[in-house]
Amino acid sequence: MALGRTHAIALAGLSGAVVDVEADISSNLPGVVIIGLPDAALSQARDRVRAAAVNSGCGFPSHRVTVNLSPASLPKHGSGFDLAIAVAVLAADGAVSAESIDRVVHLGELGLDGRLRPVSGILPAVVAASAAGYRTVMVPAANADEASLVPDIAVVPVASLRDAAIWHGGEFEPEPVEAIARPAAPAPETAGGDLAEVIGNVDAVEALLAAAAGGHHVFLLGPPGAGKTMLAARLPGLLPDLDARAALDVSSIHSLAGLPVGDSLITRPPYEAPHHTASAAALVGGGSGLIRPGAIARASDGVLFLDEAPEFAPSALDALRQPLESGVITIHRAGGVATYPARVQLVMAANPCPCGQYGARDSECSCPPMARRRYLGRLSGPLLDRIDIQFRVARITAAQLRTAQDAPRLTTADARARVAAARGAAAARLAATPWRLNSQASGAWLRAPGMRLPPAVTVDIDRALERGGITMRGYDRVLRLAWTLADLAGADKPTADHLGQALYLRRAIST
Ligand SMILES: Nc1ncnc2c1ncn2[C@@H]1O[C@H](COP(=O)(O)OP(=O)(O)O)[C@@H](O)[C@H]1O
Ligand SMILES: [Mg+2]
Repeated sequence: MALGRTHAIALAGLSGAVVDVEADISSNLPGVVIIGLPDAALSQARDRVRAAAVNSGCGFPSHRVTVNLSPASLPKHGSGFDLAIAVAVLAADGAVSAESIDRVVHLGELGLDGRLRPVSGILPAVVAASAAGYRTVMVPAANADEASLVPDIAVVPVASLRDAAIWHGGEFEPEPVEAIARPAAPAPETAGGDLAEVIGNVDAVEALLAAAAGGHHVFLLGPPGAGKTMLAARLPGLLPDLDARAALDVSSIHSLAGLPVGDSLITRPPYEAPHHTASAAALVGGGSGLIRPGAIARASDGVLFLDEAPEFAPSALDALRQPLESGVITIHRAGGVATYPARVQLVMAANPCPCGQYGARDSECSCPPMARRRYLGRLSGPLLDRIDIQFRVARITAAQLRTAQDAPRLTTADARARVAAARGAAAARLAATPWRLNSQASGAWLRAPGMRLPPAVTVDIDRALERGGITMRGYDRVLRLAWTLADLAGADKPTADHLGQALYLRRAIST
């Protein structure tokens, strides 16, 4: 009996499971059969593996080859199983050491010439291999730096199937080939610019600081040119560095999205700004075969910015609600289920009306009142309900520019330090709760006896609630935001002033 056995990884979202790959050669007529729930790409592996083995000079059995991928119940996608299948066949054929391949997890796609192509998702795959107890992983040369980010597992980069066979004891002369490089990926969206570039607009900067400190979602309303996009792009810079878990998640999602990870984990929060023509699928993720992370997953532990929010398709905005609530996005496809983290801080921007001029000091709006109402009405109540900061941004006037341009301004570095201090205070107060940020705290907890603010402090919002000026939900949002403002000010609890500021920071739509 000629049997070869090795291992590969099947990914579903960020989690991977070990797949055993067995090859058996029987005395029947030539042919290759792959069993174990392969999708279309995997069936094509049959042809790729045979051509790669022959063209790299390793030979291919002239009898019937049966390849089994188990467990059969696990959905397996993509071309990353080629290398494992090829070395299992070579071992069954006696060309390489069966013991050697059994100790190693193999990842990589084969070209017809026998060279290895880099694949996406190497980082989460190697994490899964390490977690399953494997100590060696063989990957395409172009994926070596990414694989090496995982501690406690040796990475064997190979350029070709021939190199792989030689490493596993195959008696072939080395034939150096040029390794296939990763295709140049489009540069990821980078949040740009320093906070100090924002002139005037002190209130808007304070709103941004509060958003960063408390993890509050933000809605910016204002005419074109008011600096909404400019402000949103500066929010990621105010957030602290990613912790170890977030750095691994963000880097893994990057890897699955086919973006280069480089030779160190990503430590800064991501920034995603999908265009308003983006479909629901582009936001949440999908695709046939390997389920790709969408914009929400790519923005996890960072900022998701929806510019011109009312222009997004209602279905796309609806798709955001559930992940915003739960912090995870689950995508169901015929081929399986993938779960990605979706811990995003949402920033939405909108013009006040379709023409954008309504309410601007120096220009006239040409929209009929009906069109104006309908425009912002497109942002559903349930979505706006989750947004603690709803802020109106005004265009800076020439006079303001003159007085503000030489005034000292808050830099991103200073703002980040203030945010870190405020977050520290909040985390200490919330230590006994499941939450770390004020935006996560429940209203019931904030209103409970130990936390409740004295009536003299809450008198204004109490009255607003009585008169129906704000809803209970709005009341709780003001409380959450007031705690963040107190943390930023170094106060141990909010004063009536902080509550007043909090009310002001969420008045974009109601006033
Ligand atoms: N307060 C400001 N300070 C400095 N530049 C500003 C300010 N507001 C607007 N700008 C400039 O105006 C341009 C347009 O701003 P933008 O953020 O695109 O506005 P919006 O998104 O509200 O239409 C920006 O590129 C920026 O250079
Ligand atoms: Mg803009």
